[in-house]
Amino acid sequence: MVHSSSYGQQLLTLLSLTAAGLCQAQKADSIKACLDQGGVQATISTDATWANDTAAFQFRIPPQPVAVALPHDKSQVATALSCARKASVKVSAVGRAHSFQGYGHGNPGNLVIDMQAFTDLSFDTTTNQLMFGGGANVGPAAKYLWDNYRRHFPHVRGSHVGLAGSIMGGGFGTTSRFLGIPTDNLASVEYMLYNGSIVNAGPGSDLHWAAQGAGPSFGIVLSAKLNTHEVPVDGAVSYSLALGDVDVDTASAALLKIQQWVTSGKAPDELSLRYTLGTYVSTGFFYGTESDFDQAIAPLVESVRSVAPAVNLTTTVLPSFWDAEVAATGSGINAVNGGQLGGRAFFVQSWTVTNDHALSLKQTKSLLQSFNSLNRTEIRGSGFLDLWGGISRDIADSDTAFAHGKNLWLIRVDGQLVSGVWPSDGNAYLQAGLKPFESALKKSAPLRGFVNYVNSELSVKEWSARLYGAKNFAKLQKIKAAVDPKGLFSGYGLAIPAK
Ligand SMILES: Cc1cc2nc3c(=O)[nH]c(=O)nc-3n(C[C@H](O)[C@H](O)[C@H](O)COP(=O)(O)OP(=O)(O)OC[C@H]3O[C@@H](n4cnc5c(N)ncnc54)[C@H](O)[C@@H]3O)c2cc1C
Ligand SMILES: *[C@@H]1O[C@H](CO)[C@@H](O)[C@H](O)[C@H]1NC(C)=O
Ligand SMILES: *[C@@H]1O[C@H](CO)[C@@H](O)[C@H](O)[C@H]1NC(C)=O
Ligand SMILES: *[C@@H]1O[C@H](CO)[C@@H](O)[C@H](O)[C@H]1NC(C)=O
Ligand SMILES: *[C@@H]1O[C@H](CO)[C@@H](O)[C@H](O)[C@H]1NC(C)=O
Repeated sequence: MVHSSSYGQQLLTLLSLTAAGLCQAQKADSIKACLDQGGVQATISTDATWANDTAAFQFRIPPQPVAVALPHDKSQVATALSCARKASVKVSAVGRAHSFQGYGHGNPGNLVIDMQAFTDLSFDTTTNQLMFGGGANVGPAAKYLWDNYRRHFPHVRGSHVGLAGSIMGGGFGTTSRFLGIPTDNLASVEYMLYNGSIVNAGPGSDLHWAAQGAGPSFGIVLSAKLNTHEVPVDGAVSYSLALGDVDVDTASAALLKIQQWVTSGKAPDELSLRYTLGTYVSTGFFYGTESDFDQAIAPLVESVRSVAPAVNLTTTVLPSFWDAEVAATGSGINAVNGGQLGGRAFFVQSWTVTNDHALSLKQTKSLLQSFNSLNRTEIRGSGFLDLWGGISRDIADSDTAFAHGKNLWLIRVDGQLVSGVWPSDGNAYLQAGLKPFESALKKSAPLRGFVNYVNSELSVKEWSARLYGAKNFAKLQKIKAAVDPKGLFSGYGLAIPAK
């Protein structure tokens, strides 16, 4: 009888689920006992602080680790790794829990090592490098460096975001066109490997190269060093270039005028530009004087006016560089701890485009149309193109694990939950919505992407090709086999499979 057999199946499923649940609870208890014995502070799901200990920015993916360890020094990190190995569970480090794909907590059943106690900052005046702990975040580090040394490092546009995580995943920011992305500025990494050994990985080493795009796959970052820079002037210009109420054809033509301005070498590298989908307003900062800005932007405005006559440039002069940091990163950059975690339920997709295959009019229109097609009431679309082309022209894909040589645009489209719970078809809906653009893009060159904004639903084949390319990926697989042979750090969506 169909009825009884399906009832039987349900009973079996129920029994095995209960068994899995029991097994999970036993695992949690035994890991907790191991951590307790080693003197490592830790919590499991029955503890009162669990919700707080597993809080994350991405609400779409509820974290389900088996336990969270809060080590206070390096030897406690080693103890936590050994407890995980004994219990045969995977490990992921959580820095500040901003991963858009929930990678900090990783797959269900991980032992999470929360690095929040590792927030040391120091500056070496001989090398001009900033040393930061594996749990430090952007705001406090940028402020420390500016207040004490009047220096800067390129960073993401979020003050609470973790440094280690954001740097290993790209970290594109408003000064990246002339100073490089955070990944490019990573000088060295102090890693703890699966067996508790500590390695200082500097330029020329496999681990340093691997950290620059795929870092979480190889160990726990205890600390790292970053190159820092003087800023061109202590001030900046903030600007906005609005097209007015225009249609897709005009907005696409204007976007191509911006692209031409850049590819013809007329756009200064010290300028950031974010073209927002939907409103077609471009905003950015110029890290130089007002007169240099006026001179540089004039030909762009003129060229955009030829296709969008209502174009309107507004500028605001920012008296100090720090004002630009606050404007770009948020007021949390001045707050203790870099402000609050925050969060939302959303799904992100991203693509990068290179100088060699600049956007065509067809691709541009397709992007704008795909974005405008998003029309579900419970999901709001948001998206932009960040102008990248700048010193990336001198970077080769093989320089770092993350292939980003000659990048010209970083394109990102999100679907954000407006109310209720994330719909079960939400990811598929957003992917289908942007499919026409993706297909148009694929016609001119293989797809490329951005680690921090990777589409969490891609297959290994897809993300490895987009983020690393075949050569870099093969090299990463070899490094993985050498330094994490048992795959202790493989409990998350972008784990490099060993070869
Ligand atoms: C408000 C906001 C603004 C953002 N702006 C930008 C932006 O402008 N540009 C950009 O590129 N990205 C941006 N991001 C994305 C952000 O850079 C990434 O999500 C980044 O990975 C977050 O790092 P985290 O430590 O906060 O997150 P986590 O979720 O804690 O960690 C992210 C990844 O890094 C790993 N990791 C963290 N610390 C360690 C460690 N010590 N050792 C080993 N692995 C570690 C984790 O295991 C995980 O895989 C933004 C995110 C938010 C929420
Ligand atoms: C978690 O608890 C700590 C300490 O009580 C507190 O400082 C922090 O803000 C809490 N975090 C969240 C996300 O609630
Ligand atoms: C230009 O933009 C500014 C600021 O958004 C606005 O105040 C002004 O009215 C606009 N001018 C035109 C001509 O649209
Ligand atoms: C939303 O877009 C889809 C696909 O373009 C279309 O079929 C549908 O009619 C639209 N729905 C609304 C409410 O506009
Ligand atoms: C730890 O693992 C690394 C990488 O496999 C190896 O080089 C190192 O010798 C190991 N350390 C110990 C103490 O076994």
